Amino acid sequence: MTAPRRAANVLAHAPFRRLWTAMSVCSLGDWLNILALTALAGNLNQGDYRMQSLAVGGVFIAKMLPAVLLGPLAGVFADRFDRRLTMFTADLARFAVVLSIPLIGTYQWVIVATVLVECVNLFWVPAKDATVPNLVPKDQLESANRLNLLVTYGSAPIAALLFAALSLVGDMGRSVLPFLSGMDPTAPALFVNSLAYLVSAFLIFTLRGIPKRDGAISAPSVLKQVVEGWRFVGGNRLVRGLIIGMLGAFAAGGAVVGVAKIYVVALGGGDAAYGVVFGAVFVGMALGMFVGLRLLQGLSRRRLFGLAITTAGVVLVAIALIHNLPIVVMLTVLLGACAGIAWIIGYTLIGLEVEDTLRGRTFSFLQSTARVTLLLVVAVANPLAALFGAHQFGLGTLAYQFDGSNLVLVIGGVLAVVVGILALRHMDDRKGVSLSADLIAAVRGERYPAEAAEHVPGLFVAFEGGEGSGKTTQSRLIAIWLRDQGYDVVQTREPGSTKIGMRLRAILLDAAERGLSARSEALLYAADRAEHVEKVIRPALYRGSLVITDRYVDSSLAYQGAGRALDPADVSRINAWATGGLVPHLTVLIDTPPEVGLTRLGGAADRIESEPLEFHQRVRKEFRALAAAHPDRYLVVDGTMAPEVLTRQIQDRIREILPDPVPRESEDITGTMPAIRD
Ligand code: TYD
Repeated sequence: MTAPRRAANVLAHAPFRRLWTAMSVCSLGDWLNILALTALAGNLNQGDYRMQSLAVGGVFIAKMLPAVLLGPLAGVFADRFDRRLTMFTADLARFAVVLSIPLIGTYQWVIVATVLVECVNLFWVPAKDATVPNLVPKDQLESANRLNLLVTYGSAPIAALLFAALSLVGDMGRSVLPFLSGMDPTAPALFVNSLAYLVSAFLIFTLRGIPKRDGAISAPSVLKQVVEGWRFVGGNRLVRGLIIGMLGAFAAGGAVVGVAKIYVVALGGGDAAYGVVFGAVFVGMALGMFVGLRLLQGLSRRRLFGLAITTAGVVLVAIALIHNLPIVVMLTVLLGACAGIAWIIGYTLIGLEVEDTLRGRTFSFLQSTARVTLLLVVAVANPLAALFGAHQFGLGTLAYQFDGSNLVLVIGGVLAVVVGILALRHMDDRKGVSLSADLIAAVRGERYPAEAAEHVPGLFVAFEGGEGSGKTTQSRLIAIWLRDQGYDVVQTREPGSTKIGMRLRAILLDAAERGLSARSEALLYAADRAEHVEKVIRPALYRGSLVITDRYVDSSLAYQGAGRALDPADVSRINAWATGGLVPHLTVLIDTPPEVGLTRLGGAADRIESEPLEFHQRVRKEFRALAAAHPDRYLVVDGTMAPEVLTRQIQDRIREILPDPVPRESEDITGTMPAIRD
């Protein structure tokens, strides 16, 4: 079943839908709250650069301190109360406190109110977390969590834009609406923010089906999680590289968030501009996660991880030094994109490459350290900016402004560059291959490492396709046709065309070998291929023969890379090594939907044939992607068409690349091969 379908199913549970709506509204309110309060703190301390920096920093600290100090305590309390009542009361309290902020309008109250709201959140959040499992069936819990994550971060850019719009209302509305006249431009945003909590209160109040309480929901203290977590994950080199990288990225991000407000003010932007810059980070993150990653698919993910963080650092330094608001907004999108790429790769690598026993701890360690890092950075960033103050340097007739916020951003940028390089060094899996060559190849969509193509006298054609695609039949027919024309043809196949290869094939396809790990499977196929190339294919090609192979490297990229979800760059690399970089002149892909192909198979299913349909669909998709990346080296034919039609299409294409007839001299090896089944 696909993820979106499952996600939609979770929302089919009316009570969960209600809770989810309440959460979405609250998330929107929470982001508005951060933006409005930091902006308000800056506005209330206008004039003095140092005071302004400290004021904004104060809000961040007030926001994070309660969770760090009182988190575990509140969890214990939350266990003892009725959850629905807890959430309802908390929402009402948040509504009242936030509403009071613009009405009172002093900085002291901003700080007190922030602490109060955060203390209330400490009850609301664990009560909510504990409620979710009560409202959705166990097997849908994961999709419920994914949906929660989606609204938690997905609401940020929406809130940022809403904040920008509401700030404009606040600015202009003051002359039209008398009750706004004495208030800060952030007042409308705070009103909407408080209203969000009121709406949530109503939704929660009408929510049935939350049991009073069951089980403990308290979490261990953050500090304890950090110390214990490091003991488990610190010993693993990959995890260490990932964590250093992700925390570095977080720290750099913290520096931006911390000083964004005062920097935007220094650039002459108002609250609306602050909202836009904030939103740009998230827009960039989304772009990085969805578009950036696809663009650079061929690059080793480990390399891309370090590279993204290093680039983020350079961009951050540029942001600090270029004092132009539109350029800063654009660079911020780029910064967000780099962060998004690094974050998603980090998470995926942990998911794929960290052993089961370590994975949970790694995630929770990361979450707790990320919070502590963010707190520390934000706490240090603003006082540091304040300490440095505002400076003007004269460059001839030009004056260049360099403030504390610029300094903090430069430091954050340099930190990210250092951390990015460290991560690159720590995790590099392509030592000896230059990064720029790799990058250029990746942008061009190449999967094979860029090596000069080997010139051989013969012609090398590979047939690829899923199970039951008919490629075995077609490759045989084509071999017969070519022989009839007087060519010397070697028809062969993978796996199992050499003595060693036959033994490897027996291991690989034996339905009983269920315990084979994905990596050893990939290595065994590559080992078979290495034998095949060295003993059969290359000698034949150097004799000037025409080699037709049933399956080659692409099968590994598709079955082991996409099917088994190994890193495609890894699979490509071991195969490039195994084959010495030998690439077919033409690959014929017989593209058949697995629903059709699988029904054509007779006899008992082997280890790979008995994989689920989704596996075969991934395989097919990958084959097609490989062909699409190099249309000049591929022929894609529709496997559902009549065999004679296919044969004709393939013949037409092969005719285009045939050399002059070569004399028939060597024996073909087909006769020695075992029966072939497609
Ligand atoms: P085979 O019986 O030759 O299947 P087919 O007739 O479909 O070619 O077995 C090859 C199986 O091995 C097939 O299921 C695909 C799988 N395979 C890989 O997973 N990776 C590879 O690199 C190769 C060559 C094959």
